[in-house]
Amino acid sequence: MAFIVGKRLRQFALFLSFVGKSRLRLVRHWTDSSFGESDASGKFFARTRIEMANTILVGAQWGDEGKGKIIDVLTTKADVIVRSQGGNNAGHTIVHGGKTYILHLIPSGILRRGKVCVIGNGVVVDPIALVNEIGQLRRAGVKISKNLLVSDCAHLVLPYHRAIDEQRELRKGRAKIGTTKRGIGPAYGDKAARTGLRISDLMQPRLFSKKLQAKNRENNAVLRALGARAIDYDEVNKNYLAAGATLRPFVTNTVVYLHNAIQRGKNILFEGAQGTFLDIDFGTYPYVTSSNTTVGGALTGTGVPPNRIDHIVGVMKAYTTRVGEGPLPTEDRNLSDLLHSLGREFGATTGRARRCGWFDAVATRYATMINGIDELAITNLDGMDTVDPIRICVGYRLNGKRLNVPPCDAVQLDNCEPIYEEMPGWKQSTSSAKKLSQLPLAARNYVKRLGQLTGAKVSIVSVGPMRAQTIFL
Ligand code: GDP
Ligand code: IMO
Ligand code: MG
Repeated sequence: MAFIVGKRLRQFALFLSFVGKSRLRLVRHWTDSSFGESDASGKFFARTRIEMANTILVGAQWGDEGKGKIIDVLTTKADVIVRSQGGNNAGHTIVHGGKTYILHLIPSGILRRGKVCVIGNGVVVDPIALVNEIGQLRRAGVKISKNLLVSDCAHLVLPYHRAIDEQRELRKGRAKIGTTKRGIGPAYGDKAARTGLRISDLMQPRLFSKKLQAKNRENNAVLRALGARAIDYDEVNKNYLAAGATLRPFVTNTVVYLHNAIQRGKNILFEGAQGTFLDIDFGTYPYVTSSNTTVGGALTGTGVPPNRIDHIVGVMKAYTTRVGEGPLPTEDRNLSDLLHSLGREFGATTGRARRCGWFDAVATRYATMINGIDELAITNLDGMDTVDPIRICVGYRLNGKRLNVPPCDAVQLDNCEPIYEEMPGWKQSTSSAKKLSQLPLAARNYVKRLGQLTGAKVSIVSVGPMRAQTIFL
């Protein structure tokens, strides 16, 4: 009996210490008042500011939601920023100090001093592209040395991946996915097929050259069969080994680094790439990318377990965009033309014009469900400054039936007819608003409605690409 009581007491003490620990993390709120204040109507929005602790940030739409900008802003309260999936298909834009930076592989935290940026195991790394990106940033005055870490387990993107990506797209003709042609699909394909090469291989030059030779030969056979040019092994080998030598100082076991950082109470910010509807499982398959862009990818792509995550932030535009092919139920030609005429919505990676449409609450509500989003950052509110009335898709109609979640099948989704509600526009500029009360009432109502329909608290509203154009609620 005494033994049982003792055991229970020990269990209780363990439980208390555990609860104590997690509460400690949860009460670490932002105290920096320089980010604007809540407004009387703030009760409709988040009651607390985004707590940093360990936060996963995901795109809640089809990518390009403005994740880079929000990451850059949130980085003030983070210590470590980690990418967990995707590759240099991503293009995250940060406008700062009169300069525009577009980051593809390096986490968006790199522009802030004293932060550590990690490229996790789930990212597919084109070493040549990474070396170029490091070079470009350094030339722009950004310090990159011990503040960048690259996982030794990350898979490599090789020239044959890019060539196969391009050939597959060509052969699909009108049915193409509209990929970024960065070789992302074939690289993840090799990873799943267990035939990929990794950063750790690149760190062992003799082993790498041997593996590359066999893989290059095999892929050249595929390329020739597709009618494409074969890839010269010697050149690839030379260039990759040179890139590997440049990257060597950054390569480490990032799982251990992240665990130690968490142990020391550091705040980790997980930077999602792409968006929920480009997810290989939950997106508009096959018009998707090849990684898990949703919350699970942040865990498998870094080796951080779910019980170390405190917070999930979803980023979404005040309207919808998509670049590449695939269904986009709320697509609207007039809205696309308007936004393009303002010089907005051109892809950060490929420069392609993004397709634009009305805000799709069916999609974002589903994104909240999949990711467990508790707080929202709404970007590009200023994109709606001249639009009146504004439409919001609140349901889909398919074969006479109303749907409240997107169907799994891309053809069915393409056949869905949006059910809209309309709200009045505000027809004035919002881009200099510093707090919620400075937004026109119609804009506040619109933001409130997007939060209600999406099912999460709105914590941030962005009214321009720059850091200062951010309203914290
Ligand atoms: P990401 O891939 O999610 O990081 O987004 P991108 O950088 O590809 O695309 C978002 C675009 O919107 C970029 O050009 C940003 O500079 C821009 N942007 C982000 N937030 C805002 C905003 O609130 N207003 C305006 N006008 N532009 C914004
Ligand atoms: P960020 O991180 C928007 C799209 C491509 C294509 C599909 C598959 O900037 O939000 P891929 O090259 O990945 O095989 O292409 O996914 N795509 C993106 N669209 N933003 C992105 O990244 C994207 N990364 C890939 O246009 O439709
Ligand atoms: Mg982008």
